[in-house]
Amino acid sequence: MATKILVTGGTGYIGSHTTVELQKAGYEVVIIDNLSNSSIEVLDGIEAITGIRPAFVQGDVCCIETLRRLFNEHPGIKGIINFAASKAVGESVEKPLLYYRNNLNSLMNLLECMPEFGVKGIVFSSSCTVYGEPDVNPIDETAPIKPATSPYGNTKQISEEIITDYITSGAPIKSIILRYFNPVGAHPSALIGELPNGVPNNLVPYLTQTAAGIRGQLTVFGDDYDTPDGSCIRDFIDVVDLAKAHVKAMHRMLDKEDTDAIEIFNLGTGRGLSVLELIESFERSTGVKVPYKIGPRRAGDIEKIWAIPDKANTVLGWKAEMPIDDTMRNAWAWQCRLAEKK
Ligand code: WQD
Repeated sequence: MATKILVTGGTGYIGSHTTVELQKAGYEVVIIDNLSNSSIEVLDGIEAITGIRPAFVQGDVCCIETLRRLFNEHPGIKGIINFAASKAVGESVEKPLLYYRNNLNSLMNLLECMPEFGVKGIVFSSSCTVYGEPDVNPIDETAPIKPATSPYGNTKQISEEIITDYITSGAPIKSIILRYFNPVGAHPSALIGELPNGVPNNLVPYLTQTAAGIRGQLTVFGDDYDTPDGSCIRDFIDVVDLAKAHVKAMHRMLDKEDTDAIEIFNLGTGRGLSVLELIESFERSTGVKVPYKIGPRRAGDIEKIWAIPDKANTVLGWKAEMPIDDTMRNAWAWQCRLAEKK
């Protein structure tokens, strides 16, 4: 019988791509999502790619009664991947309580339900943001955790601590914490991708919307950083590669007896790319020019950060494989498909 997995936030950007990879690997997926930042049509995309429509519960993970009902109606869930969270850095500064409530209550509800319903493990979506501005690059999982620069970042740090404290207290569960670098791109089928609400904050959706003529011009936030071309450096990781890491993590957590109860992995490519290099990659791979100008630095930005992904490579047996030009082509194909649907 297929192992049943609960994917919270499963109609969202990373959640939908991970649901596809879980189903392809033979897992049975139940999604819970309140559709606050995603659309029900994402289920059609998942079904078109995999031939399987995942079970779907529209509801809020912040409501423990909703969760208990879900676990009763879908008995036998063995693992959880927790994507359900608010993730806009700027918004978190304006609405801190919303972020602490959404991101922490949901996690604590899941943790509380796990022993009650016999769920063995939880994969948690964390972020390289926990490292702040690193003293040296690239960084592995032992790099110091720096004070968070936003309530969003703080929820990721606190979440990691909540999971650690709960397991240390003797809770009969395991967890794998995945620290994502910068997820970008879309499924190569162009059937699922990122659906940003309103004006995008993140670089790639802003870039593809500019290339599509929805935005007049992309602003590169600063070219006076201490980097070779002056723009910030990030570790851009393809969303399908990232999704595949969750399948490896789930397998390790549920099926290997001799692993630690908590493990942490960086998920990145190991390669730092500047904002200007990313724009070049987009233009080279799609043949489409992106109008851009250099603007002032964005408050709170990290100058440069990229990963040492060796632990994920060796222990999880996972490696980011997609060349950045292909990732940019997929992001563009998805943007074009969104335009067609309108
Ligand atoms: C990347 C680079 C910008 C927009 C955030 C979160 C992180 C993670 C991903 C999320 C920066 C520059 C951007 C633009 C630009 N988790 N940029 N013009 O800030 O690295 O990470 O998102 O859910 O936790 O902190 O990502 O895509 O916003 O920016 O020049 O219009 O692109 O300054 O250098 P960031 P980003």
